[in-house]
Amino acid sequence: MTISIIGSGKVGASIALNCAIRDLDDVLLVDIVQGLPQGEAMDINHQLSEMGIDRLVRGSNNYADINDSGIVVLVAGLGRKPGMSRMDLLHTNANIVKDVSMKVASYARNSILIVVTNPLDPMTYVALKTTGMHKDKVMGMGGLLDLSRFKSFIREAANVSGESIQAMVISEHGENMLPLIRFCCISGIPLIDFISAEVQSRIFENTRKVAADVIALKGATTYAPGNAVAIMAEAIMKDKKSVVPVSAPLDGEYGVSNICIGVPVVLGENGIERVIELKLNPIEREIFHKGINSVSEAIKAIMP
Ligand code: NAI
Repeated sequence: MTISIIGSGKVGASIALNCAIRDLDDVLLVDIVQGLPQGEAMDINHQLSEMGIDRLVRGSNNYADINDSGIVVLVAGLGRKPGMSRMDLLHTNANIVKDVSMKVASYARNSILIVVTNPLDPMTYVALKTTGMHKDKVMGMGGLLDLSRFKSFIREAANVSGESIQAMVISEHGENMLPLIRFCCISGIPLIDFISAEVQSRIFENTRKVAADVIALKGATTYAPGNAVAIMAEAIMKDKKSVVPVSAPLDGEYGVSNICIGVPVVLGENGIERVIELKLNPIEREIFHKGINSVSEAIKAIMP
């Protein structure tokens, strides 16, 4: 089996590197640009041989090559430029995601599909509907990246190892992201024992906007998204039953259907093995519902 990555730009290459150095599987990079996936593959293979990791990364411009994939990652499409929101990419990327999803349905129907292209939640829904794949096998990566940013702020403020932090981020991967401060702890100890309420509020706000800061400074986010996708791939390939946030197709959970949005799930060899329904308080529920409305509106605009 292979992990296939469709879209070999900045994030696609980072996903390939992160999957390969975790020794998860062989990796195939695909792109419409001639030479780009092949060049990225060569570069990564040179690192792997030096590290003694006997995985092979290949590059291709032919979608048919994804046919023996266990996991397909869809990361083709435009990234946002400084000052843009993820939703500004909606119409352009919906066309790309529809096109690529049809190829995935033709060549790798039995794989598990991880969508990365933004705006993440509507794009995951487009991929789900266009491929016709089972809802447990299609998911988006957004919450895990938001979580890595959330944990990074907590680590800095509490001055503890990131390993000791447990936290969760749900809702839209976008304007209505919901870092769940109330569910955070450090090795089982409530966050308030380490960080004041005022600093917690600042962390909440910073987590929601830090991606735009990175984009303003360096033009794109690259390394942390690659790592987040590799965490998901590892949970699936090693059947870890990890509890992580993903953009999941909902079918009645949280009282909604016909949408993909960030929620905690159990991730294992069968894909999404269970959606976990959290008991949100009124403030959290309000933000989550704003997220649902925002994603629903976007879905209506591209799949009327
Ligand atoms: P990039 O511009 O570096 O790479 C995109 C690649 O997609 C290009 O190489 C392009 O040739 C390729 N592509 C376009 N149409 C294609 C098609 N039909 N088939 C195959 N390849 C195709 O962009 P970057 O920075 O890698 O970002 C990719 C996407 O990932 C963007 O939509 C970005 O917003 C999103 N993203 C999502 C994150 C998340 O947390 N979900 C985090 C970071 C980026």
